[in-house]
Amino acid sequence: MQILVTGGAGFIGSHVVRKLVNTYPEYHIYNLDALTYAGNLENLRDIDQAANYTFLKGDIVDAHYINQIFEKHRFDGVIHLAAESHVDRSITDPLAFVHTNIIGTVNLLNAARDLWKEDSANKRFYHVSTDEVYGSLGAEGLFTETTSYDPNSPYSASKASSDHFVRAYGETYGLPYVLTNCSNNYGPNHFPEKLIPLFINNIINNKALPVYGDGKYTRDWLYVKDHADAIDLVFHKGKNHETYNIGGFNEWQNIDLVKLLCQQMDEKLGRPKSTSEGLISYVTDRPGHDLRYAIDASKINQELGWKPSVTFEEGLALTIDWYLANEEWLNNVTSGDYQAYYEKMYS
Ligand code: NAD
Ligand code: TYD
Repeated sequence: MQILVTGGAGFIGSHVVRKLVNTYPEYHIYNLDALTYAGNLENLRDIDQAANYTFLKGDIVDAHYINQIFEKHRFDGVIHLAAESHVDRSITDPLAFVHTNIIGTVNLLNAARDLWKEDSANKRFYHVSTDEVYGSLGAEGLFTETTSYDPNSPYSASKASSDHFVRAYGETYGLPYVLTNCSNNYGPNHFPEKLIPLFINNIINNKALPVYGDGKYTRDWLYVKDHADAIDLVFHKGKNHETYNIGGFNEWQNIDLVKLLCQQMDEKLGRPKSTSEGLISYVTDRPGHDLRYAIDASKINQELGWKPSVTFEEGLALTIDWYLANEEWLNNVTSGDYQAYYEKMYS
């Protein structure tokens, strides 16, 4: 099997690539990544010499390049994670999200459709998506696979659009696909622009913790390695033309999560109790901020037997330990452009 993973140098993609390279020596795993600010080959240093792994530097928006690599490597499966992934960046630069998330996805769909035109048996296009396509929940209820799409940010609108294209290629061209919509991930290798790694980095450096609005926004958090396990399972065992929701059964209001993080960080850094909580600073809210996301993951649980393997407290402790042990990684990704981004976003 020749498997193409897109976005494999990013946060979730790197865990997926590692899992596939280590679990399936009989597969060849091609990691296609443009190495944007979010892509980092350091994430894969432990497996990048493996005989069944090849890195391809390229942009999914470049249709000519995409067609060439499909022609050359004749992939049997695609696991598509490459995306612009940060809501705040989508508010300042929506078109970048249209290019990568929509046009890039359609380029991949075209290449897979054309390559598998004569024989699509045992072929699979797996699109990795987000629960944010469903919009915002009130205080009650959960997103299921049949919840209507109702995206509110340019990021979620671009992901919703890409999901629709994947389904449309299934209906129109018979493309064998599976799609998953997952809740917020956290864990090692997460770029420090998202809530948890940004706050870990700020606590280490005694910097303010910018909580948007009243901090009562709610997210459902999943440890990234549990997501990678779910992706492996759905890729191999999921049914064609089906969607699966993936979530942690683990809802937290931002402010409660931040307080737990502060508590764990104080313990690990040997700082007096409540030191880090003193860094909390309420700041102007994100425009169009979705109040609550929560996933009903019973379909993947009942049909495929998947469930999260760690509690949030365990996953968070593993995550903090990783950041504290990988200071060099953190310093490398927060030098250069990161400072300019931080100034623009938070000054
Ligand atoms: P990330 O931003 O950490 O990584 C994205 C990767 O895609 C990077 O390596 C980047 O270099 C690459 N990339 C970006 N544009 C590209 C292009 N034009 N061509 C080729 N490569 C390109 O993102 P992530 O958090 O790992 O998310 C991966 C996928 O999972 C995304 O599709 C995202 O929508 C989805 N998702 C993320 C979460 C989450 O909580 N992070 C939750 C659910 C779904
Ligand atoms: P984030 O990690 O950006 O993920 P998403 O927007 O995709 O859910 O944000 C998680 C939550 O944390 C969200 O409600 C916004 C909030 N947040 C802050 O309060 N401050 C911050 O600096 C960031 C980045 C996020």
